[in-house]
Amino acid sequence: MKEKVIIGLDIGTTAIKAVAAQLLEDKIHIIGATEKQSEGVSKGTISSVEDAVSSISACLEKMERMIGVPLEKAYVGISGNHITSQETKGVVTISKADGEIKEEDIERVLEAAQAVATPPNYEILHVIPKSFTIDNQSGIKDPLGMAGIRLEVEAEIIEGLSNQVKNLTKVIYRTGLEIEDLVFSIIATSEAVLNKKQKELGAAVIDLGGATTSLAVFEEGDLLTAKVLPVGGNHITSDIAIGLKTSIEMAEKIKLLYGSSSLWRGGRRGEINLNEIDENENGIISKRQIGEIIGARIEEIFKMADQELHRISRSGKLPAGIVLTGGGSKLEGIIEIAKEEFKLPASLGVNQNVISAVDKIYDPIFSCALGLVLWGAQTEKTTGEVKFLAKLSNKISKIIKKLFKKLIP
Ligand SMILES: Nc1ncnc2c1ncn2[C@@H]1O[C@H](COP(=O)(O)OP(=O)(O)OP(=O)(O)O)[C@@H](O)[C@H]1O
Ligand SMILES: [Mg+2]
Repeated sequence: MKEKVIIGLDIGTTAIKAVAAQLLEDKIHIIGATEKQSEGVSKGTISSVEDAVSSISACLEKMERMIGVPLEKAYVGISGNHITSQETKGVVTISKADGEIKEEDIERVLEAAQAVATPPNYEILHVIPKSFTIDNQSGIKDPLGMAGIRLEVEAEIIEGLSNQVKNLTKVIYRTGLEIEDLVFSIIATSEAVLNKKQKELGAAVIDLGGATTSLAVFEEGDLLTAKVLPVGGNHITSDIAIGLKTSIEMAEKIKLLYGSSSLWRGGRRGEINLNEIDENENGIISKRQIGEIIGARIEEIFKMADQELHRISRSGKLPAGIVLTGGGSKLEGIIEIAKEEFKLPASLGVNQNVISAVDKIYDPIFSCALGLVLWGAQTEKTTGEVKFLAKLSNKISKIIKKLFKKLIP
């Protein structure tokens, strides 16, 4: 196999997920998807290097067996409550005699935009240009080749705690893999579950993970904001364990078996004999009670996400609505709750950008790993002849690679 293999690696709190693809004539062919239970990851960040290395390695080995090629490099997702985004501006003067804006000028203005006050212990992960202004003409999406004297950019900067970034890079290198790029997980996820039209109209992706819920909001093709909230599906499980006085394992089984139906009014009737789920347990519980416990936590998570929408004045104002993904989105009644809570259209977010016979990539737990592959494919397609600017017009540029190289141990 000569073609390069692109790997997307999502280090989740519940499970490590990997997706592998090949680019054949610029078309993405998904060749594998694997997952392994995660260890040493808490709230989306590394809590034990040893444990994380061994669970990631197990996932990668599974992938190597599946696709029959050794893995060398990967696009790796980075997540956690420490990641923040902020708006920034940069200005440069075009000094050339002809006043034509070149690639270097765009690079310079993006570098100028990074000169914002980043807290000393933070690392910039992405600089995402939103729009450019040339002299007094604003709202320019792609300034290359235009004439002007003063070039200005409005961009979104995404930054994360340096030590968290270092821990993650260390863990990946210990597995023997090289990092092709570190990508903020929810931005990668959005690449898999949103199409261009939704990004244009205005939409929010909500990834309901095990220990975190991440949110990314898009409008006019631009990222408006992205955030990681420290609550997720495991909190639903804990609520069930506390509410029904069962073990966490039992609560997880109840959630997976009856969670979806108990969120529907019709599915709430009747009772469950715990002994039928696990012979060591006894007791009868009502489905209504399970539905109420799960519903209350989901509403709380959605309220937190809606506060973020309020902050950027988009609550109730995103025409393409809410797109739910991640393991938690598998609770069937959750779409209805989202419609009510956000007063917006809501849908389940699964892969809509690649066709593949690998079924797993349509599972919402794989959205992030798949998104990383799509991100990688875009990057690979645009290196070489078209390079930097093609990425820019894709609205996701990353001059970060240079910065990021400094982190490699
Ligand atoms: N069918 C299902 N119904 C309800 N919840 C589910 C279902 N399948 C998985 N989950 C829940 O989804 C969560 C795991 O989802 P996912 O794999 O997206 O998380 P993660 O990426 O590992 O975590 P994080 O993103 O927070 O680091 C768990 O809380 C699990 O209980
Ligand atoms: Mg996740």
